[in-house]
Amino acid sequence: MINVVLCGGSGTRLWPLSRSLYPKQFIKLFDNRSLFQLTVLRNKSFAEKFIFVTNEVHYFLALDQIEEVGLDVNKAEFILEPVGKNTAPAVAFASFLVNEDQVLLVSSADHYIKESDNYYESLKKGEEFARLGYLVTFGVRPTNPNTGYGYIKAKGFDVEEFKEKPDLQTAQKYIENGNYFWNSGIFCFKAKSYLEELNLYENEVFESSHKALKNAKNCSPIRIKPKDMSEIKPNSIDYAVAEKSKRLKIVPFDTEWDDLGSFDSLYEVLEKDENGNTKNNSILINSKNNLIIEENNRMIGAIDVEDLMIVDTADALLVLKKGSGQKVKDIVSVLKSKN
Ligand code: GDD
Ligand code: MG
Repeated sequence: MINVVLCGGSGTRLWPLSRSLYPKQFIKLFDNRSLFQLTVLRNKSFAEKFIFVTNEVHYFLALDQIEEVGLDVNKAEFILEPVGKNTAPAVAFASFLVNEDQVLLVSSADHYIKESDNYYESLKKGEEFARLGYLVTFGVRPTNPNTGYGYIKAKGFDVEEFKEKPDLQTAQKYIENGNYFWNSGIFCFKAKSYLEELNLYENEVFESSHKALKNAKNCSPIRIKPKDMSEIKPNSIDYAVAEKSKRLKIVPFDTEWDDLGSFDSLYEVLEKDENGNTKNNSILINSKNNLIIEENNRMIGAIDVEDLMIVDTADALLVLKKGSGQKVKDIVSVLKSKN
């Protein structure tokens, strides 16, 4: 199995930690490891090879980070994009690159996943279905009507419906129904199964990605040419293929999973001390349940505070109440409008 790691997203919801030149998958938040590195470490025991599809500006960052976790660079292939056109073309590039019967595990570089036997068992089951020609999604039990996810209606391993990013009312209906899973964003299939479905439902993306990869694949690292990339219509694997395909299967993930879409979810997964404060060098007096991140090693002191999130970086300081994490993108919009 080859692990295709998608790491081309820019992620603005963790501002000021996450910037366009330093997106969240590369920030070292977990014992000096990034989510990208944890993805490699989690999968390197069973993946015979990795294909990283990322933006060209992050090439050296990604290369340094895989070397740091001891991945043999001969097992890593890079496909560099001049701009992102979302995940449908990114997965197509990797699929065109390999042998058509090759099984691919497509993972996001920015997910927090607890390594457990269940994780590996789900992948094994997924691989079995993939070998039979199915496109496998991995489902996570939903806990709230989050509209940022895909929803999968399951009957055993069969998929009755895949709906990407429904509106709130629909998401609420799905949660009440009880037969829906969140799409974890991890997929498993043979390269040719994905390409057949892409060809069927999004022929334009299929053709333009094919041409782009053909024109680029003779150099290492593979760098998609800007002109070819500009001809590709952006689309995600979820809208382009998963919503339409009749060859989907779902395998549940019975493990802790989070896409870390906000500081609130980051607080939940980081290690905390006995007062519920995230572990760091700050001095906290009579304070509990706070997320404190000192990227810059600057000392932070806080007294009598509760349920706060303080994120300190070299050139920006963010202070917000717990529960308001989704509003960080409002600051980013204001910043963008000023530039
Ligand atoms: N190479 C590359 N190029 N990677 C990309 C691009 C691109 O243009 N765009 C996004 N990615 C990467 C991101 O870095 C991330 O790792 C992954 O692909 C998924 O993209 P997101 O932009 O984070 O997707 P999403 O969160 O809105 O939705 C997807 O993930 C959800 C779970 O987190 C969907 O698959 C949903 O159905 C799913 O529920
Ligand atoms: Mg995401």
